[in-house]
Amino acid sequence: MPGSAISAFDLALPTLDTAGLERPEVLAAIREARSEHWLARTPIGFMLTDYRDAVAVLRDRKFHSALSLLPEMAGLEPDKYMQNRRRSILAMEGDEHARLRRLVAPAFTPTATDRLRPFMREVVSALVDEVVGQGRCEFVADICEPYPIPIICELLGAPKEDWKLFSEWATDIFRIFNQDLAADLPAIERASGQLEAYVLSMVEQRRSHPSDDLLSSLIAIEEAGDRLSSEELVMLAEAVLMAGTDTTRNQLACSVALLSEHPDQWALLADRPELAPRAVEETMRYLGAVRGTVRVASVDIEYRDVLFPAGTIVSIALAGANMDPEVFASPDTFDITAERDAVQMTFGSGIHFCMGAALARAELQEALPLLARRMPDLGRDGPVEWKPSTFGIWGPARLPLRFRPPAP
Ligand code: HEM
Repeated sequence: MPGSAISAFDLALPTLDTAGLERPEVLAAIREARSEHWLARTPIGFMLTDYRDAVAVLRDRKFHSALSLLPEMAGLEPDKYMQNRRRSILAMEGDEHARLRRLVAPAFTPTATDRLRPFMREVVSALVDEVVGQGRCEFVADICEPYPIPIICELLGAPKEDWKLFSEWATDIFRIFNQDLAADLPAIERASGQLEAYVLSMVEQRRSHPSDDLLSSLIAIEEAGDRLSSEELVMLAEAVLMAGTDTTRNQLACSVALLSEHPDQWALLADRPELAPRAVEETMRYLGAVRGTVRVASVDIEYRDVLFPAGTIVSIALAGANMDPEVFASPDTFDITAERDAVQMTFGSGIHFCMGAALARAELQEALPLLARRMPDLGRDGPVEWKPSTFGIWGPARLPLRFRPPAP
């Protein structure tokens, strides 16, 4: 009966505070909370950990992205920059968001991103060339850090001499996720302004001389007389740079850290590169670099007889959903040959489902078998240092590896 739902705030619920916990502890805490109730209380609101609940809430358009709340959470007055940030596709909702996704989607299909696969192989090969003779590397600094920027630049159509600039801008713009937004704001605004000027001049250039890059296809897109404005093109370039860099780096590091614990599966991947798509999905399921996302109820919402009053913050544990035994048989077994019944959740779900998923999948599918072939007998060359445990993007800070170098 509508209106009979009990407010989430009035329910007796298990408490989940995953901050600072290591991954096995997070999963154990989630399992324990799940045995009591499908909903858990957190320091900022509530958390969902089941696959089906995660999908349902992420697909419910009344639950909005909580990204736009970052400045308020940091106690900042909204200013011009933060107003721009609110208009980022990641923080947009409703018709405005749907229009953008519709216009932009054709540029991000698997077919559109597949043309970059040879370039991806070239980039990874060149990075491996640098370390392969030594038989050891620090995988994060040597391979993961430098990998995604050339791909994003190639995608956008920026030349090699500007890779370093993009890398610096990405680093500074990423400071938005550090815990000190007030102190970081000048660097974030400077980088954002420089990227904006750069992309605007690229847009001008592509309008008169179209090429086969993303920016040219976005400029050319027209649907029923509707086109993307220069401001929207800049915002999309920034979104791609931000959303497509650190995610890919951390996922590659997570995937290889995991495979380095399973030498038999690493060897199998070298022998059977056609397993790459499954290896990517299984490593992303078992050890995803994005462990959760956050939504805010835009109005009073009833879900499973529980009322989430407008303004309630709901976290979605993607890592929990990926280990849901109701959906994944033997979720604790890591197996790159397994055919799973459901899609892993590390790319999210619903209207904000990762726009770059095809690109990210291609990047990982090209990198993993190539690395497995060129770095045989992989093992750890020291302990893995993990980044501080956060709900957002996460992975190894250092991953020392050793492997068999090629015969002289
Ligand atoms: C393994 C790498 C990646 C992972 C794990 C990942 C994960 C995610 C997740 C979980 C979301 C949804 C966030 C939410 O619902 O709150 C998302 C959104 C997004 N991702 Fe990715 N991503 C990856 C790579 C990329 C790449 C390479 C690009 C760019 C080409 C990209 C572009 C985007 C964009 C633009 C959005 C926002 C979509 C929207 O709000 O409509 N991502 N990503």
